[in-house]
Order: sequence, then C-alpha cells, then structure tokens
Amino acid sequence: MNKIEIKHNNEVFDLPIVKGTENETGINIQQLRSKTNLITLDPGFKNTGSCKSSITFLDGENGILRYRGYSIESLAKNASFLEVAYLLIFGDLPLKNELDKLTNDIQDNAIIDEDLKKILDSFPRSAHPMGILSSLTSALIAFNPEKKISLSNSYKNKSEIFLYNTIVKLLAKIPILVSWVHRRRKGLSLDYGDFRNGYVENITRMMFQLPNQTYVQNNVVVNAMNKLLILHADHEQNCSTSTVRIVGSSEASLFASVSAGISALWGRLHGGANQAVIEMLEAIKNDNGDIKKYMIKAKDKSDPFRLMGFGHRVYKNFDPRAKIIKIAAHEVLKDLGINDPILEIAKSLEKEALDDEYFTSRKLYPNVDFYSGIIYKALNIPKEMFTVMFALGRVPGWIAHWREMRLNNDPIGRPRQIYIGEEFREYKKISER
Ligand code: SDX
Repeated sequence: MNKIEIKHNNEVFDLPIVKGTENETGINIQQLRSKTNLITLDPGFKNTGSCKSSITFLDGENGILRYRGYSIESLAKNASFLEVAYLLIFGDLPLKNELDKLTNDIQDNAIIDEDLKKILDSFPRSAHPMGILSSLTSALIAFNPEKKISLSNSYKNKSEIFLYNTIVKLLAKIPILVSWVHRRRKGLSLDYGDFRNGYVENITRMMFQLPNQTYVQNNVVVNAMNKLLILHADHEQNCSTSTVRIVGSSEASLFASVSAGISALWGRLHGGANQAVIEMLEAIKNDNGDIKKYMIKAKDKSDPFRLMGFGHRVYKNFDPRAKIIKIAAHEVLKDLGINDPILEIAKSLEKEALDDEYFTSRKLYPNVDFYSGIIYKALNIPKEMFTVMFALGRVPGWIAHWREMRLNNDPIGRPRQIYIGEEFREYKKISER
C-alpha cells in the first residue's frame, strides 16, 4: 500500500507514502493543503521529516548510526576525521590521491586575514567561546566575499568548483579559529600550523603548542581527538543541522549558515549539554557525591534541573556514540595516567538512572554528551571550550547537508502555523484607548 487515505468533511483524500532505504516510511504531505485546505501541527517537528537525505542514517530504537552507509563503530575505529569529512560531504571514502588533494587544498587556504584578529581582540575575555566562534565564522564572509553564482539548472556543474573552494576554505579556517579562541583565553600567541602533518595532528598542535617549547605530539591525545571529532561529525536533522539547512535554503552563504548552526548548537539542550554535564558532575562531587539528591531533582517536575547528557529526541536506546566514548574515556584517562573521580560519578549516575523506572519508562539513556566532557577535560580543554569542540566535529556534517540541500535545489524553508491570536479589531487613537 503506497498511499494513505484521509477522511475530512465527508471527503476521502489520498496522500502518497514515501519509503526510505531502510524502509522508514512517511506520509508525503506536499499536496495536503491544496487537496484538503488542512496543514499539520507538530511543535519541535517530533514527527515531521523536513527533507530526503542520503548522508546519515539513524535508527533510534536500535541505536544504529551510519554515515553514508558506514557504521559509526567502524569509522571511529579505523578512519581519520578528514576521511570521514570527505565521506560525509562528497558521498564516498576518498582514494589516497583525493585525500592528498583535499589536504593540500586545505593547507593552501589555511590563512586568515590578520584583521580578523582585531575582531577577536575586541571580545571581552569573559565572552563564551561559542559566541566568539559564531561571530568570527560570520566575519569570514567579509574576508572571503562570494562571487555571485546563478542558481540555474547548471548550478550542479557550473559552480561545483566554486562550492568545493568554499568548502575547503571552511575546513581550513574553522580549526584555526577554534585554536585562536582557545589560545586567546590563555593569553597565548595565535598560530597556523601545517595541515600537511595531518588534519587532527595540526588541530592538536595549534591548540596545545606552548611558546618557546619543542612541541611533542601525544598520540593518545591525537587519537582521542580524532575519535571524538568523528563521533560528532553528523547526526542527520538535529537542531543545529536543521538550522544550517533552513538558513542556507534562503541562499545565504555557507559561512553564514554554519555561523547560525554554531549558535543553535550552543544551547544546553543541544551541544551545550557537554559543558552542562561536567558542571553537573562537579556539583555532585562537591555535594559529597550525593547522586540520589540529583536523581530526585531530575524527576521533580517543579525543578528545572535535568540530568544533563541523558535523553534524546531520536535514540530510545543507548546512543551508540556514548558507548564508544565511555570506553574511550577509560582508555584515555589510563593512558594519560589520570584518575578523575568525575568518571566514577558519571558511571554511578548512569547505573542509578538505568535502574530507575522514571528513566527506563521514558527510554532515557546516556547520549553523546554524557561522557565526552570527561575526555576533553583529560585533554586539558577548558569546559567553556567543550561545545566549540563539538562544533569543530560537526562542521563536515553541516557542510554536507548545506551542499545536499543546495544541489537538490530544495525550496526555501517556510513552515506554516495555526494562528490563535486576536480577531480583527480597529485601531484606536491613544486618547481613545
Ligand atoms: C544532542 O538531535 C540530535 O541528534 C542531537 C545530538 C546531535 O548529535 O546533534 O544528538 C546532540 O543535542 C544530544 C542531547 C543533549 N542534551 C541533553 O543532554 C540535555 C538533557 N536532555 C533533555 O533535555 C532531552 O532529553 C532532550 C532535549 C535531549 C530531548 O528532549 P525531547 O525529545 O523534547 O523529550 P522531552 O523533553 O519531551 O522528554 C520526554 C520526557 C519528559 O517527561 P514527561 O513530560 O514525559 O513526564 O522525558 C523527560 C521529560 O521531562 N526527560 C528528562 C530528561 N530528558 C527528558 N527528565 C530528566 N532529565 C532528562 N535529561
């Protein structure tokens, strides 16, 4: 049966059923309003698909995550982050010459107009790094003006080169901006590094290189960073990626769309949760490790406190990324010789929650943010930078979705609404009100 019937006002209307690669099915309501004069209402789009996409597949009930068909487990174990970025953006794992070309093209764009440092310096030191990153990403437009490209049918071929050059600029400049934001908070010089030494290797060098010291690469740090960036690289139509798509649908530039995505990710219900998790775990530690007290708060509807790092809009099973990060947290702390009581508190909290009917009945499991902060902390990244690291990982996913949306010529995003305000009323002069 590839259609659904709706009965309304004694009329029956057909709407087509759409089926995905993994047999997910949906009702295609593109003709709903013209056929029935009805719209749908779905706050938070909990039941609404915004597009068809070939980039990432999520199965929330079974805890499955695949990028272009490859499992997150195999990519996190075997791939480099730049390989995964290429896969997400262009659709296949790169051949060696393709990866080498991308690396060289990134290095050729790994410079930032020195005037951008003046914008960075204008921020108060107390400014949150996510606000700075979003602003600097938007400012990149001023220093990289886009040549107008027509969106005619030949958009796909005529401007693929233009699109590629813009993508490479972003892949080159965002890591530099991230390292500058991190280093300025520490009062360190702002450097560039060399991506030809390895994309993630260069990111860690740019972030952790200390002046007047020979930089010694720590492979535990590089491998942990590589894994975390891969695990954060895409997650289909989440809040920030949907933001990038809808901003890009107005033909706003890739830089402007990603800047908007960074702002959306900042929220504590989304990417900001990784910082909130560590703050929650530290609060529990400083409160004599009283986990039960925080469990009660999390279940109390009159208390705004939530168990940060728990629950997910799609996963009603373990977030596969959380499973991988939990193991990696153990390994990184052991390899770095760090004994962080926060990890034990996190594990006890997880155990307590998964034994509690409130959480199990609502299918609330640890998500990607629950353990990631423990690793960032072990890598000496300040908690205010945790969501910036999430954004750095998510850039390839945002790019991939922006490119897919533009190459598909998706329409400008413009949802409808149900109006519940005042009926018509006449204007009255202030003296008559
Ligand atoms: C990310 O979408 C993505 O893919 C996002 C992401 C990505 O990679 O892009 O995976 C990254 O954002 C992960 C989520 C990080 N956020 C947090 O950890 C913040 C804490 N979690 C929650 O705020 C919440 O679980 C959300 C925001 C993640 C999901 O919210 P939903 O889907 O809107 O679910 P809901 O708020 O309607 O909750 C359903 C029920 C409610 O209780 P009842 O009304 O049924 O009684 O579960 C309760 C909620 O109160 N609940 C929680 C809870 N999360 C949900 N109760 C206590 N603690 C929590 N963490």
